[in-house]
Amino acid sequence: MHPLGWPGYPYREGSLEHRLPTEVDRGWKGPAGKNVDGGGFLNPAMAGNRTRSVIMLDHLAKTVFKKIEKIQIIDALGATGIRTRRWLNETSDEVARRLYVTTCDQNETAISWARSNLELDDRKDQVNLIQGDTRRTLLSQGWHWIDLDPYGSPIPYLDLAMQATARRAVMSISATDTAALSGSSPNPLKRRYGARVHMDGLKHDTGLRILLATSAMAAARHDRVIRPLFTIWDSHHLRVTVMVERSKGSANLIQDSIGWRIHSPSEEDVEMSIGCGLLPEHDRGSRPMHVMLPLSAHPPPSSMASGPLWTGDMGSIDVMSSLTEAAAEKICSSLDSELDFPESKRCKDAVKKISSEGNAIHGSHLIVTDMLPGFLKRGNPPSPQKIARSLRDMGYSAEVSRYAEPSLRTDAPWGSVIQAYDKTG
Ligand SMILES: C[S@@+](CC[C@H](N)C(=O)[O-])C[C@H]1O[C@@H](n2cnc3c(N)ncnc32)[C@H](O)[C@@H]1O
Repeated sequence: MHPLGWPGYPYREGSLEHRLPTEVDRGWKGPAGKNVDGGGFLNPAMAGNRTRSVIMLDHLAKTVFKKIEKIQIIDALGATGIRTRRWLNETSDEVARRLYVTTCDQNETAISWARSNLELDDRKDQVNLIQGDTRRTLLSQGWHWIDLDPYGSPIPYLDLAMQATARRAVMSISATDTAALSGSSPNPLKRRYGARVHMDGLKHDTGLRILLATSAMAAARHDRVIRPLFTIWDSHHLRVTVMVERSKGSANLIQDSIGWRIHSPSEEDVEMSIGCGLLPEHDRGSRPMHVMLPLSAHPPPSSMASGPLWTGDMGSIDVMSSLTEAAAEKICSSLDSELDFPESKRCKDAVKKISSEGNAIHGSHLIVTDMLPGFLKRGNPPSPQKIARSLRDMGYSAEVSRYAEPSLRTDAPWGSVIQAYDKTG
């Protein structure tokens, strides 16, 4: 039986037409709730997040999970099921036929709209719709892929989800408590994540690293380790996608991947960072804008320190290089008519700069270029493109970053960054 109001209003996203109980503005860019009645069942501002999720699933199903015939997935906070539908309709056939998705939501209306939407799909028999508390459903079996897309913080679900991973699994975690994670609401930040943020130009990266550290600690509590595949701060939300693997030995070492970030470090900080392997030897003698320190450094509350946060890489070159505009465009290739163009553009925008940034994701410097003149006390805000090009000419990896501020990532020594800055200024 269809829900009251069916067929409701059509909503276009990716290659799909989805039906919703209320009209939704496809161009909306903020948090849910302001444009959707009845509990924010679908937020169009999360469309890019869903597009990236389709591409990563397609890629990882063909690589990491290539030997798994039945990929068990949970869309744990699935609402009206649009993410589930996009996975099943937009991944390639060889992947889609192997996806077995449990879509859970406690809201009865959301699940009834998900059911009616799925009736339109060829692969509806691969979906198990559950209305109920996802915390129970999560623990019902081991999953290869877990998607957590809550309102606000993912904290209530993290420990449960970590216990529910298969031997090797991918977990994508959204958070919309951005005021906490960027440091503008220090009390919830301390309460939920046990962390603090120095609010400089890197505060969004810091928020992502705090979410990663929190996820890593949750994984370690359950004898698991995480490896970041892709992380992004996208307007009103953060999202981290990590590989989770069972390994007591590596979980024992988790504190080696967690520490602090110091703004305007002293010479001693730089030495300590190099000594702990958090900064390459080639930075010896320089004073970078930021350095990482180990957890044991415990910088005083008065210092310009953020953490505890993840000090390792923020993504994998393999996964980031799969997030191309060509892959995004392919998703929309089944769309016809004049609607094709804007949706195809939106899909491509969702992955802009990501695959190239992957080339420099191993670099220890993420540089917000507008901070350079103030920090160095000379020059004007430079172009990140020009500095990156100049560093590549010197033989380093350097790419413009898809970050909230004009910025670049590089593995170049800090001295070479300054040289490139002075040359472009
Ligand atoms: C942000 S929405 C999810 C949006 C969805 N992933 C999408 O892409 O459209 C969060 C959803 O979580 C559901 N929810 C909240 N707490 C839950 C719980 N404990 N168990 C199951 N669903 C829950 C809400 O009803 C809501 O539909």
